[in-house]
Amino acid sequence: MKILAVTAGRKNGNGEILTKAALMRAEELGAEVKLINLHDYNIKPCSGCEYCTVKFTQKGEAPECAYKNIDDMDLIMREWLEADGIIVTVPAYSFMPAGIYRVFTDRFLAYEPNFHKQVGNSAYFRHRVGGIIGNGGSTRSWMSLTLESINITLLSQDIKVVDQVLVTRAPRPGQILLDEAALVRAAKLGENVVKGIENYNEVTFLGDEKLGWCPVCHSNILSLGEPHWNEGGFTIECPICHCGGDLVKDETGKWKFVIAEDGYRKSMLDGRGAKDHFFEIQDTMKKYFTDMDIIEEKRRKYSEYKPSTIAKNK
Ligand SMILES: Cc1cc2nc3c(=O)[nH]c(=O)nc-3n(C[C@H](O)[C@H](O)[C@H](O)COP(=O)(O)O)c2cc1C
Repeated sequence: MKILAVTAGRKNGNGEILTKAALMRAEELGAEVKLINLHDYNIKPCSGCEYCTVKFTQKGEAPECAYKNIDDMDLIMREWLEADGIIVTVPAYSFMPAGIYRVFTDRFLAYEPNFHKQVGNSAYFRHRVGGIIGNGGSTRSWMSLTLESINITLLSQDIKVVDQVLVTRAPRPGQILLDEAALVRAAKLGENVVKGIENYNEVTFLGDEKLGWCPVCHSNILSLGEPHWNEGGFTIECPICHCGGDLVKDETGKWKFVIAEDGYRKSMLDGRGAKDHFFEIQDTMKKYFTDMDIIEEKRRKYSEYKPSTIAKNK
């Protein structure tokens, strides 16, 4: 049983310590563990070339990144794909997961399991389980998009997230060492990832069910439903796992989010949502390829317009 942990915080910082607490427990339970800190690797920001999406939507070939042999991303993703369990720890920066993690996950488009499955790439068929830790200096209100944003990156990787922990109020590096409960909770996350791997088919979620509104992915954010590319959508949607339903009052008068009978049809949990998105990309790109001449003609007006800009440092 292999577990790969990816941390995005400072070297020897709070996130790294929490991750190590999780890995120590997982190792005790028999897992073979590896830890990487994204700060140690060269990962280029996605250039937006769309080589990956064009490759699979237009040619029916497995997506591949144009930077494949240029930086460390492919090296990391090979380990990522071979792991049975993934633990991700990211600090909150400006309410969200730190940018270095976003740079890493923007590159996931070339490694989307559900896109690879569409073209029969068997490297992407394995079951994987995830555990996520969001850590920050403040309380949840100042980390409001952190855990949820980390969660969606694993869901889009077809990873079953069995535990999530938000660790608050530890700003300075190592300050988390004063919070014994947080370290114990992180160790429990390591244990839960092992349990999830060992009982993949039975386990759904082993973390705190009260973490958020959504009964499926436990995120604390809900959206008013929006029309989808091929259908009307739901009244209320979870923007993280894409399950849909409505707000209903329970017997005590409290509002809760109830998933509709067919509320999983766009779900990120069983691959249906990502597969649907594969066809959406294919459909929306079609117009670009048929109307390329019109685009080039209309583009001139904008490419020839050169407003003044800011001179770069030499
Ligand atoms: C640029 C920057 C922005 C930050 N923004 C937030 C924030 O929005 N919410 C929060 O709770 N903590 C915020 N923090 C605090 C970090 O999340 C905190 O220092 C955390 O312990 C860093 O984790 P690490 O030790 O694993 O690097 C911020 C820190 C920095 C450097």
